[in-house]
Amino acid sequence: MTTHKLLLLPGDGIGPEVMAEVKRLIAWLNAEGIAKFETEDGLVGGCSYDADKVAITDKTVALAKAADAVILGAVGGPKWDKVPYDARPEAGLLRLRKDLELFANLRPAICYPALADSSSLRREIVEGLDIMIVRELTGGVYFGEPKTITDLGNGQKRAIDTQVYDTYEIERIARVAFDLARKRRNKVTSMEKRNVMKSGLLWNEVVTQVHNSEFKDVELEHQLADSGGMQLVRRPKQFDVIVTDNLFGDILSDIAAMLTGSLGMLPSASLGATDPKTGKRAALYEPVHGSAPDIAGKGLANPVAMLTSFGMALRYSFDMGKLADTIDAAIASVLDKGIRTGDIKSEGSKVVSTSEMGEAILQEIQALHA
Ligand SMILES: NC(=O)c1ccc[n+]([C@@H]2O[C@H](COP(=O)([O-])OP(=O)(O)OC[C@H]3O[C@@H](n4cnc5c(N)ncnc54)[C@H](O)[C@@H]3O)[C@@H](O)[C@H]2O)c1
Repeated sequence: MTTHKLLLLPGDGIGPEVMAEVKRLIAWLNAEGIAKFETEDGLVGGCSYDADKVAITDKTVALAKAADAVILGAVGGPKWDKVPYDARPEAGLLRLRKDLELFANLRPAICYPALADSSSLRREIVEGLDIMIVRELTGGVYFGEPKTITDLGNGQKRAIDTQVYDTYEIERIARVAFDLARKRRNKVTSMEKRNVMKSGLLWNEVVTQVHNSEFKDVELEHQLADSGGMQLVRRPKQFDVIVTDNLFGDILSDIAAMLTGSLGMLPSASLGATDPKTGKRAALYEPVHGSAPDIAGKGLANPVAMLTSFGMALRYSFDMGKLADTIDAAIASVLDKGIRTGDIKSEGSKVVSTSEMGEAILQEIQALHA
């Protein structure tokens, strides 16, 4: 059996609490011989600043590069509000994304039937929702140069951000989206603003070319990003995979996230290119939520986003999709039984702690696996 090397970076706030539930699951998988994971712990964010005065050390970045996948909790908190800008907790995360060249951000939005009433939309619109937003993560307007604020000398200032995409950046993110669609419901919706942006025109052209030459079997549709946003809240189940740039992806994935109810339920994956020699792909998996300082240390955090982030690692880094399906089914079943953490509680549900939720999910996984 192949040994998979994981770097675990629990981070700050509720990060270590939710990561403990992943560790519990890994220990069981190893003990049962279902998989073989070798894990190492590291520091990122505020805890790394406390130990080493940086948000992540070179050594930890090297460990991340050597690992088969990085599993991260969350970073940040008021304790580090005043640290130097370059050492702020988020800088650790940004450095990992940059140094591992994680250009593809995958954000699934899944609405478990038991939680459909927690959504801001009506049950029939979101129940059973299962869409995947693929956001380009290392290019576009967040990184383009020039990026300046200039004093015009007449009491006015001018701010410039630059939206820039090269063909190769659009090709590689499009391939990620089409590949994913093949394993799902075989449909990709590409969103841009070709009506007003040159980068939108190129985006549309390149996605269409990649489709024509490599993925003819996948259904492709194009939507303008603004009308796509409207469709996301109007009829979200029409989508399977949505592929879009860094800026639109930032906004559209947050909209999609809210369709599902709680921040405590949402996983994500960030992927790099596959090394043609080793077949290895840099990958980082983390919940969408932050370090939740308001509930940290109290055993109140929902571990589902962290556990499903690990599930994404099983699916996308280790080809263990069936095991990931089992985790998803176990979570659905625990929710059906009315076992809930405080953030997703509803009338008549049994409110449990982080570790009780993790334990209940593991027991259900064990039952499904038996
Ligand atoms: N990727 C990351 O590590 C990341 C992402 C977002 C924010 N942050 C940082 O986290 C800190 C707090 O930020 P914020 O409050 O804006 O966002 P947050 O996601 O930490 O919390 C927002 C709200 O959601 C709740 N919440 C979040 N995750 C939960 C969970 N698993 N279970 C139950 N409730 C949960 C919190 O209690 C809070 O009320 C800040 O320092 C911010 O910079 C980090």
